Amino acid sequence: MMKMEEIQPGIYERNGKIYTRNADPGKKVYGEGLLQVGDVEYRRWEASRSKAGAAVRKGMDLGLEQDDFVLYLGAASGTTVSHFSDILEEGFVLGVEYSDTVIRGLVELSERRDNIAPFLGDARKPGEYSEYVDEADMVFQDISQRDQAEMFLKNCEKFLREGGKGLLAVKARSISSSKDKKEIFGDVRGKVSEEFEIVDETELDPYEKEHLVLKIEG
Ligand SMILES: C[S@@+](CC[C@H](N)C(=O)[O-])C[C@H]1O[C@@H](n2cnc3c(N)ncnc32)[C@H](O)[C@@H]1O
Repeated sequence: MMKMEEIQPGIYERNGKIYTRNADPGKKVYGEGLLQVGDVEYRRWEASRSKAGAAVRKGMDLGLEQDDFVLYLGAASGTTVSHFSDILEEGFVLGVEYSDTVIRGLVELSERRDNIAPFLGDARKPGEYSEYVDEADMVFQDISQRDQAEMFLKNCEKFLREGGKGLLAVKARSISSSKDKKEIFGDVRGKVSEEFEIVDETELDPYEKEHLVLKIEG
């Protein structure tokens, strides 16, 4: 029997595919495959459905620890949040999402898992959720808006603890439809590195076109 190899805390690999341990056995979140190995059920983490999953497949160490408090901006219905929830066995994820229709899936997910809280709000206004965040060990953002870098920096400045990690998924075409992606990524890198040290980065092709993930340290 092929073994699961733990490649990062709570993230497993087998046959070139990545998985997390299903914290809600028997239940799928977005149609992903389930795999039983011995006593443990794993959920396949589809890299083409999740920028964090794609970054892992591209070799990035997310820097997630299993007891982290994660502030997740652009949580949508919880596809990636569900894998963070699997990983954060002693941690917690606050998912901020501003669409009241999209957040419904996340609300349902949070009712089945006790380490997720959904928050209907705008990541441009961190004061809206500051009473629920003391310090974040990680700030993760996946928001396709022109001012995505500014939003990320605002949240990291307010919440990221010293030594904490930030991951910013950048979608080039949300920033400009005409500029070359290299120029767009260069502009974002410039803005981010004025405030924080960029410790790693990866483009997400072939899982996502014209996307970059930057990893920073607080
Ligand atoms: C690409 S989707 C996120 C997908 C999600 N990260 C996942 O992997 O499951 C981007 C989400 O950001 C949300 N969004 C856009 N602008 C936002 C803002 N200012 N504050 C919070 N959420 C926002 C959108 O409604 C959308 O659901």
